[in-house]
Amino acid sequence: DQSFIFQALDEASRRDLAQAAHTRRHASGEVIFTMGAPGHSLMAIAEGHVRISMLSPTAREVTLADLGPGEVFGEIALLDGRERSADARALTNCTLVVLERSALFELLQRSPKLSIRLIELLCERIRRSDERMMEIAFLDLPPRLARMVLRVTVAAPGSEARPLPRLSLSQTEIANMIGSSRENVNRCLRKWQKAGLIDLKDGWLVILDRAGLARVASLD
Ligand code: CMP
Repeated sequence: DQSFIFQALDEASRRDLAQAAHTRRHASGEVIFTMGAPGHSLMAIAEGHVRISMLSPTAREVTLADLGPGEVFGEIALLDGRERSADARALTNCTLVVLERSALFELLQRSPKLSIRLIELLCERIRRSDERMMEIAFLDLPPRLARMVLRVTVAAPGSEARPLPRLSLSQTEIANMIGSSRENVNRCLRKWQKAGLIDLKDGWLVILDRAGLARVASLD
């Protein structure tokens, strides 16, 4: 119901959606599906958070996205009929609303608005991937790391929450989000701590000087 793409449906279609969908629960840490598996369903997150990631041949992980309530995943394999393009894992206990291909296609045929929302979702993901690709291709670690820290500590668009001044991700998780190693991330964070941009305590990264970090983020 909180899902942007399904808000496109009229009431009757929403009732059909509710009938066709089933819910699935996953405990924190559980694998939802793995890259390469066949996939015929789309999932909307009702509760909890899900991490979308990929493993390198040497088992290093890169995080593609962390998704929360109202967000949708699994649309790629569902739409193109191929295998899952990435791994999905529950970051917290999760409740997912699962919709099979036949039910979604029926709804898409009835609602052009739903198709457009789904296309908008794919466009948004391509934009974000392009941005990440640009950062990995052109930026050194400090501006890349600064951008990530600023990005994940800014309130979501439309939300009234103030930007969170701190970050509770581990340094390995941070490294996985920007395609770096924990050691390099640690070195950079220590430098920023000495320079008074951030503080590191009790596993938290606390932002002390947001404007300073923004200056680092804009350098290449
Ligand atoms: P699918 O390929 O079915 O399974 C993996 C899912 O991860 C994919 O559908 C998308 O829903 C999601 N996904 C893949 N790449 C990204 C990305 N770069 N950003 C956000 N979600 C992604």
